[in-house]
Amino acid sequence: MPYTVPKLTDFSTSALDSAVRELLSALDQESAAVASENDWKVFRDRWMARKNGILTQINDLWLKGAPGPNKREVGQRVNELRSQVENKVAETKRWLLAPGVQVTHSGIPVSAADLEAYWRVERLKAERVDTTLPGIRRPIGAEHPVIKTMNEMIGVFRNLGYSVEEGPEIETDFYNFEALNFPPNHPARDTQDTLFIAGQESKPLRDRLLLRTHTSPVQIRTMQKTKPPVRVVCPGKVHRNDAPDATHSPIFHQIEGLAVDTNITFCDLKGTLDHAMKAMFGSSVKTRFYPSFFPFTEPSADVQISCIFCDGKGTRDGAPCRNCKASGWIELLGCGMVDPNVYGFVDYDATKVSGFAFGMGVERIAILKYGVDDIQLFFQGDVRFLEQFG
Ligand code: PHE
Repeated sequence: MPYTVPKLTDFSTSALDSAVRELLSALDQESAAVASENDWKVFRDRWMARKNGILTQINDLWLKGAPGPNKREVGQRVNELRSQVENKVAETKRWLLAPGVQVTHSGIPVSAADLEAYWRVERLKAERVDTTLPGIRRPIGAEHPVIKTMNEMIGVFRNLGYSVEEGPEIETDFYNFEALNFPPNHPARDTQDTLFIAGQESKPLRDRLLLRTHTSPVQIRTMQKTKPPVRVVCPGKVHRNDAPDATHSPIFHQIEGLAVDTNITFCDLKGTLDHAMKAMFGSSVKTRFYPSFFPFTEPSADVQISCIFCDGKGTRDGAPCRNCKASGWIELLGCGMVDPNVYGFVDYDATKVSGFAFGMGVERIAILKYGVDDIQLFFQGDVRFLEQFG
């Protein structure tokens, strides 16, 4: 006769003891009789099925049927039984899956050799690899268009013998402004709307921290640690307090360059940038240099390239070119000869060396190269945009 859960009328400790004993012995016997996966499933469901499994029945017939004063004790016993049954069911499965292991009536392996065999099988199962399954293909992803453009530009300058330097994004006022010949309170600082780190009023101005507004501070750091000749490009992320729109972003990227040596002239600057723009946008591109101002260069210039959309004509398909506002030119970067005052901050002898510097926005170049119409697309992480550069 298979075990059935009795309905209890006597809830005394001794009556409960004997009901529990009877149930556990049925559990042991049924577990020992399990010989196949299928048996085990039947065994599991008989004891654990939510609907009418033996555990559910003792809950209904014993616990719910117990009079108030006995509820506590019966509850404890039912809980204990629940965990014993759950353990037994799990254990039965384990022994079943280790073929050839003989277990005693209570589930203990009969010999230490069997115990070892059991664990060997378990280990093999855990390490099992099905070599016939198709491999896991990781999506490769694509280089981000900003990084791609940055790397291309760096490549152009590497070929000219430049090395690459990086520096901190959180800078001091000294490196971001003062050493670049922006004196404290000078109106030139207003051209770069700066994000300052809060709570530093007690520090001297030059030590206060801010998010760098350009990568020019890396040029100062480079000159402080190397004597001329210097030829470096400094790529990196910069921050300005600009509201985001189609052409502005509070975070963007720059590549700046610096060459300092004896007898460096404005001709070297023009030749270098003309070459770089041709390498980047094609050999038919022309450059022109327009007077400008930066505190750290004198003279300074903005560089324009002939419009790559209308070939510098200002009109396209009979209509005014929208990309260059019909001017035939697109402004791309700032540059100039390093102001001698800057050399004073880095212990270079301004009477012996000269040099040039230039700086450009990477997103702006990527926008032109790839015909992107909104700078925000670079920062939104939308794969439908990004996968087009794969
Ligand atoms: N640092 C300047 C800026 O961010 C760009 C620049 C670099 C101009 C080097 C001249 C020389 O606006």
